[in-house]
Amino acid sequence: MRPIIASAALTALSMPALAQIDGDAQRPYEGFRIVQVVVQDQDQLDAVLDEADMLWSHGVGVGPIELVVDDASLEALRDMGLAPLTLVEDLQGIIDAERAEIERRNIQLDLTWFENYHPYDQIHAYHNELVNDFPNLASVSTIGQSIEGRDIIATEITGPGDASGRPVVFFNGCQHAREWISPATVTYVADRLCNLYGTDARVTQLLDKVVVKIVPIVNPDGYVYTWTNNRFWRKNRRDNGNGTRGVDLNRNWDINFGGAGASNDPNSDIYHGPFAFSEPETVTVRDYVLADENMVAHVDFHSYSQLILYPWGYADIRVPEPDYSFFVAFSQLLSDTIRSVHGEFYTPQQGIDLYPASGVAPDWTYSQGLKSWTIELRPNSANPGFDLPPGEILPTGEENFEGVLEILDRFKDPVLLSFPDGRIDTAFDLEPTAIRVQADSLTDDVESLNVRVRPDVSGGFITLPMSDMGGGLYHVYVPALSCGRSFEFFVEGETTGGAALRLPAVGDLGVSVISQEITLEDDAETDLGWTVGAQGDTASSGVWNRMNPQGTAAQPEDDNSSAGVNCWVTDGASGGGLGARDVDGGATTLTSPAFDASVSGDWLFADAFLSYARWYSNDQGASPNSDNMPVLVSNDGGNSWIELEDVTENANAWVEKTFRVADFVAPSADMRLRVVARDDDPGSIVEAAIDDIRVLIRGCAFHPSDLNRDGTTDASDFFAYLDLFAAGDSGADLDINGTIDASDFFAFLDLFADA
Ligand code: ARG
Ligand code: ZN
Repeated sequence: MRPIIASAALTALSMPALAQIDGDAQRPYEGFRIVQVVVQDQDQLDAVLDEADMLWSHGVGVGPIELVVDDASLEALRDMGLAPLTLVEDLQGIIDAERAEIERRNIQLDLTWFENYHPYDQIHAYHNELVNDFPNLASVSTIGQSIEGRDIIATEITGPGDASGRPVVFFNGCQHAREWISPATVTYVADRLCNLYGTDARVTQLLDKVVVKIVPIVNPDGYVYTWTNNRFWRKNRRDNGNGTRGVDLNRNWDINFGGAGASNDPNSDIYHGPFAFSEPETVTVRDYVLADENMVAHVDFHSYSQLILYPWGYADIRVPEPDYSFFVAFSQLLSDTIRSVHGEFYTPQQGIDLYPASGVAPDWTYSQGLKSWTIELRPNSANPGFDLPPGEILPTGEENFEGVLEILDRFKDPVLLSFPDGRIDTAFDLEPTAIRVQADSLTDDVESLNVRVRPDVSGGFITLPMSDMGGGLYHVYVPALSCGRSFEFFVEGETTGGAALRLPAVGDLGVSVISQEITLEDDAETDLGWTVGAQGDTASSGVWNRMNPQGTAAQPEDDNSSAGVNCWVTDGASGGGLGARDVDGGATTLTSPAFDASVSGDWLFADAFLSYARWYSNDQGASPNSDNMPVLVSNDGGNSWIELEDVTENANAWVEKTFRVADFVAPSADMRLRVVARDDDPGSIVEAAIDDIRVLIRGCAFHPSDLNRDGTTDASDFFAYLDLFAAGDSGADLDINGTIDASDFFAFLDLFADA
């Protein structure tokens, strides 16, 4: 097993004595190379940082780090007994080649603007042109000046009309000078939003509801300096008065200022400055954010590493619920969305899990009530690092534009509605159905909320006002219907400001009324005859066993069942550390005993469903997300297998899944379930568990018109209905509108005719 350095063990960045790269020299990186060393402990780390000429990696800690060194420093590292691995032999050569490529592209006529990098003036000029081309959508303003007096601009984009009540989403690039892909990406976002408005339905609808505000270059002086002098300059250009230059703007915000992951050494690349908001650049952006009451979300774009980071970044503390769950789920969605464009994986995680950083912009905007992220753009490796080839600007823009649209979609409404119990698609025979809605106020509050319901048999939607349960939770019961019927519903309402609310945004949700019988319930408290191991298994640790699991950051502490303690788990012992007892060395297979999913008994119609709770974790440790866990089903006793799902969702929590068996295989009396946990990448941590395997038969034993439930619809049911009707019994209110009248009678006739 490869030793895993838990990210929390990364120490705060301490600062190398930087033997000084002279940014004002002609070719400042001549004779320098990028190397990677694997540092074993804190003392060695300190020594290595002392020797390095510049830190290249984003994170610093025990484990692999990348450094810029000259030949003398390289020798010194070797003398420490380290084996530096050269990633880039000739760093100045890389810079020269990048510049030559930019020059070459500048004169290549068939290239679009987003196929090359552009200096400060040209980026601002591009934003001004956009505003010229789309005056009804976009405007640019100067929101402040840098310490050397350069303008900091903001571009604001929204659909025509009164935008005063629209939620605002804020994107910025280039707090860090050398991360050239970040201003390019936010400029691409501005460009696409303007150009697609009016032609692309989604962009049009979004911009009619939200305002997008973009500050492309927070750090103009630094950005200019990377073009004129030192390609890898990070900070602003403050004269610190002691012969050093620059404050790290992303350590200068007033949130845990000066804490872990920030340096008080003015020479450091993460120097936080003399006090919070000491820099005109951070003050400018701070005031821009504070001036806007409607700002609800913020992304601070950086490079590189391909990460989606949510607060907090300064300490290993979770943000309070429901924010934490929101960040986990939504960051995963962002990652999936980005990956769907070009297959590039951006790891979603809490900022601190990368390394601690105090005084960062997204932590501060989150503290002001926004939902905030850092997105680290391409590439995902230290080579090429900050000098991403210009050919990758466009794909980086494209994938992040989809992420941006996802964010706009989430924050487009003044009040955000969601179903806290997930999407409801089944109701039960003769039982009222609870519909619960969570309303989160973004820029406005709920005035009223109703569920609109239409039972199968009647034409119109009826209105059921929802009750305010406090904490943004609203609920109502849809009256009971009999098995075999169905209803459609949606939620609609109004905000105090008069804006319309609707969930889902378009259309309605269908619910079928069923009966359910559980024919198998395996809570893993006893072994019903499972088999561990299959041909081809090579796992050397983390083999499946049935036990009361010991929790780690990757493995459950408790089983899923409300009663009992056991589940099937890939070695449920904690082993004293994350990854100590995870799956290593290949696959471990768990196969269920045979079970019956055939439908028997007196069902009018029914279907078999298979459900289970599963746990999966593969997003921690050194090589996250390099494995997967197929879950398979067999209807021939295990001779042939069909995949039910291939789990890559790192819930790090129990997730209950239900499948209709017939969607995969014909249900039989000789079914088996199989779970293959595997570790094909030796550096990756894989933990998995499964519990509460159930077979559910869902269907109806009676037709809804068979009121006396004797198996046939006949005259006796007709008279039974007349009795209910005459008695004013709520069971006669078939259109569930609260009154029993002729329309209910006709609804019954419809059901009767349908039998
Ligand atoms: N690379 C950025 C920086 O160093 C991002 C920091 C994100 N936050 C964090 N806690 N790691 O400023
Ligand atoms: Zn950065």
